[in-house]
Amino acid sequence: MSLYDYPRYYDLVYGSDWKAEFDFLTGVFNKHVCGETKRLLEPACGTGRLIFRLQRAGFQVDGLDLSSKAVHYCNKRLQRHGLQASAWVGDMTNFKVTSKYCAAFNTINSFRHLEQHHQARDHLVCMAKAIRKGGIYVLGLHLSPKIGEASEEESWIARRGHLCVQTSMWLIHRNLKQRYERFHMRYDIWTPTNHETLDDKFNFRTYTKKQFEEELLKGIPEFEIAATYDFSYDLNQPIQVDDHSEDVVYILKRV
Ligand SMILES: C[S@@+](CC[C@H](N)C(=O)[O-])C[C@H]1O[C@@H](n2cnc3c(N)ncnc32)[C@H](O)[C@@H]1O
Repeated sequence: MSLYDYPRYYDLVYGSDWKAEFDFLTGVFNKHVCGETKRLLEPACGTGRLIFRLQRAGFQVDGLDLSSKAVHYCNKRLQRHGLQASAWVGDMTNFKVTSKYCAAFNTINSFRHLEQHHQARDHLVCMAKAIRKGGIYVLGLHLSPKIGEASEEESWIARRGHLCVQTSMWLIHRNLKQRYERFHMRYDIWTPTNHETLDDKFNFRTYTKKQFEEELLKGIPEFEIAATYDFSYDLNQPIQVDDHSEDVVYILKRV
């Protein structure tokens, strides 16, 4: 059981944090997609915190995720608001679409859940097939900086009514040779009468700039890097990725 199988808690903490990404994504679509942006896809969509807001803004947005519980939560919310229950249970390394998308997005490191090179490659091949020419794939991930220290922990807290949830994530072990970081993730859940903790451990694959851009992306000629930003999501501040870079949002153009 993964902590992603507790969508109510996930969405309480991460779901409130959507506005900066929403504004950034819509700005990026305007700036970088050739032609109109109508159909969107979010691989690893989780609870659909972004799908919900983007559908509400008038986009057609589909998503897929490995967690059936997260997909169920996502579709329920969409239905409740009279929107399209458009998420399906699927693996982002192995899926097919029936008609192509103008753009896709995958913003907060979900891509790094793909622990093997062949999985990351298969994912990008699926995405290249799913996005029309002139479209883009917005891919956000933390690189391992070659200079300076990578960040090792984060913690977020949110409250709704009588429910309060804190998520904490900390690094257990980093092995850059074998290309993984092992994290501990914990949910602390408080209600007026109870305090419960849920724990999980998982690996993220690590990437330096060279490993991502040259060893992986170069093998998928359908994608070219159109621009790079960081997690401050400022469209007016594109960044130059270098050996210090950590949080990077790649705008991959489908050529
Ligand atoms: C950090 S959450 C991000 C969810 C969502 N994109 C968001 O921004 O809130 C990572 C998600 O990746 C999903 N995931 C991990 N491996 C996957 C795979 N191979 N295929 C599809 N989804 C996957 C997990 O189930 C989880 O919902």
